[in-house]
Amino acid sequence: MNRLKWLALMLLPMGLVACGGGQTEEVAQEPAAPEPAPVAVEPGGSTGETGQAIARLVGAAGTEIRGEVAFEPAPGGGVHISAFVSGLEGAGEHGFHIHETGDCSSPDFKSAGGHFNPVGTIHGGPDDEERHAGDLGNISIGDNGSGELHAITTLLSLDPNEANSVIGKGVILHAGTDDLESQPTGAAGGRIACGVVEAHSL
Ligand code: CU
Ligand code: ZN
Repeated sequence: MNRLKWLALMLLPMGLVACGGGQTEEVAQEPAAPEPAPVAVEPGGSTGETGQAIARLVGAAGTEIRGEVAFEPAPGGGVHISAFVSGLEGAGEHGFHIHETGDCSSPDFKSAGGHFNPVGTIHGGPDDEERHAGDLGNISIGDNGSGELHAITTLLSLDPNEANSVIGKGVILHAGTDDLESQPTGAAGGRIACGVVEAHSL
């Protein structure tokens, strides 16, 4: 037993050299392998209307803002939205919308494009008849920097084949308050958090 151990210790460095890789490289590769993200929706799949979706919000650089937005079929039709955000610096009303592009890559989140507006209407509040499909109004943030929003909308769909599908769109939290009437964005100011809506199965 002792002799085998000895042999192994002698041979181990030789084996690494023979592979041509340094020891740290060899060790680093295995844990670095990314876990594949769960994908619920396949082309022609049946998850469609009954699927769920989630967007994880990450704040702009230098902020601690985080959030989670869940989308699920509402029992009476439409999409039920539950949003939780935290890490803001104080109380206030912050514009909250679905934007047309699920791209949070630019530091100012302008990469997410304008409000999701599949039928070409005007900006409005969540209770207005005329409004963008992505117009969710404001999230009310408390003194502790957290807040939530719960809403049901019939203007969005969880079916990826529908023109008003929320899958793959962006979710934006704004620095300011959506006045629910200024065109085309409610004058809600800069973008302080962004996430992409991703389908997932139960
Ligand atoms: Cu917005
Ligand atoms: Zn809008």
